[in-house]
Amino acid sequence: MGRIGVLDSGLGGMVMLQALRKRYPEQDFIFLADQKNSPYGSRTNEELVDIVNRNIAWLKQQQVDSIFMACNTISCLNPDKIDDSVPIQRIIEPTCRQIETIDVKSVVVCATPFTCATHAYKSVLNKICPALKIVEVPLPFLCRDIEEMNDSSIVLEKLRHALKEVSSYDAMILGCTHYPLARALFEQIFPGRILDSNGIQLQCFSQGTGMIEFYTTDDPSYFDLQCERLFHLKIQSKKAGI
Ligand code: DGL
Repeated sequence: MGRIGVLDSGLGGMVMLQALRKRYPEQDFIFLADQKNSPYGSRTNEELVDIVNRNIAWLKQQQVDSIFMACNTISCLNPDKIDDSVPIQRIIEPTCRQIETIDVKSVVVCATPFTCATHAYKSVLNKICPALKIVEVPLPFLCRDIEEMNDSSIVLEKLRHALKEVSSYDAMILGCTHYPLARALFEQIFPGRILDSNGIQLQCFSQGTGMIEFYTTDDPSYFDLQCERLFHLKIQSKKAGI
């Protein structure tokens, strides 16, 4: 059995890949950071469908057995518009399922503008837990601030402003895979329980040799620098000409 393609607009996918590597150390992965098209969360539906199908076609050329969308934004796209000739795993539903494991009456979902506009979290959470009070808060600045590794004190103030109405909620879901990189900032502002996509149960993966290849659609040397700074990981990524 072959490798799994992991796809995101950038560092959020790396957050998930780190979690996957810990749980499935022998699985082979190919990671695609589509940084040229980042941030996904500010794009239109048509743009995202086109981008994702091109990325899937590229991953198929790399002989992946399946694709893991390590991205909430593209997990919200209508599956009928997405090439499913290889199996695809999405993350909204498994992320929402974690709410069943804690006893809460209200939840804030922080996500990209696109994810919030689809209300994907609200509709899945409503089904799982109809009595839950849910508010979705778009954070249009945060993915870019994380990608640019901007000063955390400035990001903290933006978050404080964006979240000032919701501090009394019981729990928060970080509905963008980039956001765990700012978890310490969320924790300074929000006193309730914080959930993210890293704890989700995935389908069982095959065994390999733990080989990982890293690609970005933008500048490999900048991506290598981000990985070293944020994940203490020395990699040599390559450019995917998509
Ligand atoms: N990390 C992705 C997500 O979970 C995409 C963020 C972006 O590119 O806007 O939605």
